[in-house]
Amino acid sequence: MTAIPLDVANDSVQDLWRSIRFTARDWARREPVLAGWLTHCVLEASTFEYGLGVILSDKVADSVLPVRTLLPLMLQAMDDDPEIIAAAAADLDAHYTRNPACGDHLTALLFFKGYHAVQAHRIAHWFWRHNRQILANYMQSRGSEVFGVDIHPAARFGRGIFFDHATGIVVGETATIDDDVSILQNVTLGGTGKESGDRHPKIRSGVMISAGSKVLGNIVIGEGAKIGANSVVLNDVDPHTTVVGVPGKAVGGTVDDKPSLTMDQSFDCESFDPGI
Ligand SMILES: CC(C)(COP(=O)(O)OP(=O)(O)OC[C@H]1O[C@@H](n2cnc3c(N)ncnc32)[C@H](O)[C@@H]1OP(=O)(O)O)[C@@H](O)C(=O)NCCC(=O)NCCS
Repeated sequence: MTAIPLDVANDSVQDLWRSIRFTARDWARREPVLAGWLTHCVLEASTFEYGLGVILSDKVADSVLPVRTLLPLMLQAMDDDPEIIAAAAADLDAHYTRNPACGDHLTALLFFKGYHAVQAHRIAHWFWRHNRQILANYMQSRGSEVFGVDIHPAARFGRGIFFDHATGIVVGETATIDDDVSILQNVTLGGTGKESGDRHPKIRSGVMISAGSKVLGNIVIGEGAKIGANSVVLNDVDPHTTVVGVPGKAVGGTVDDKPSLTMDQSFDCESFDPGI
């Protein structure tokens, strides 16, 4: 597996797209029932952005916002802000390299709703930043209905974001997720209900948040930290620290610098200094 560097150059993105199309041609031969669909959304798309736009708009469109309206809007967003497509390529590589059940990039592109939800959010966020909040909210609502993932369009995401399984992930308005973060199903990055304004968590680079965890309040989850499944985290977490439980407590360090990349579920308690 070759990971794409985070500074995804446009050439690398189009190399990635060529390799995806190569896989799609093979799939179309092997599974004739899906050949027409693969042709429509991959083989007839000359660029990654166009293919992604077709795949996303087919999923998100409805009678109010049909594909003929939505696809040009998505392409406009991607054309205006090249970061959207560079991040989309890094996210795709994250879904491929971090998921042992994913054999190639095309599988993630076509079948992983966590990937789709993050890309729909990137478009909604562009609408939000360009003073089209009503449209952004409509996209959030559709993303939530279609993917079961509810991301406020104002939330800020870096590159290389992996939402594994993704069902039930909720991300609040003032949350930020930095580069190279992995989040599993049923995680909430929410408010405590007691704060207003800037009230949601800040997730630093390299963090892994395991299934079912609730991270609440305007707290910082430090670089390379790891949150165990079903934890309720209410306080800042130091970098490279593993937190588990309800309420969450630090129980160790992390084996890797960026647990999000290796998805390693073990933790290092021997070298851990709890500070007491
Ligand atoms: C319970 C809640 C309202 C906090 O209430 P609070 O009275 O202000 O509680 P505090 O933050 O002062 O914490 C009091 C104690 O309860 C613990 N605690 C707080 N929330 C807890 C929770 N959800 N589960 C377990 N323990 C919790 C704290 O660790 C603290 O323990 P300590 O005294 O031993 O340190 C809040 O944490 C909560 O769960 N809000 C719901 C938020 C939510 O559902 N958000 C989703 C938005 S999408």
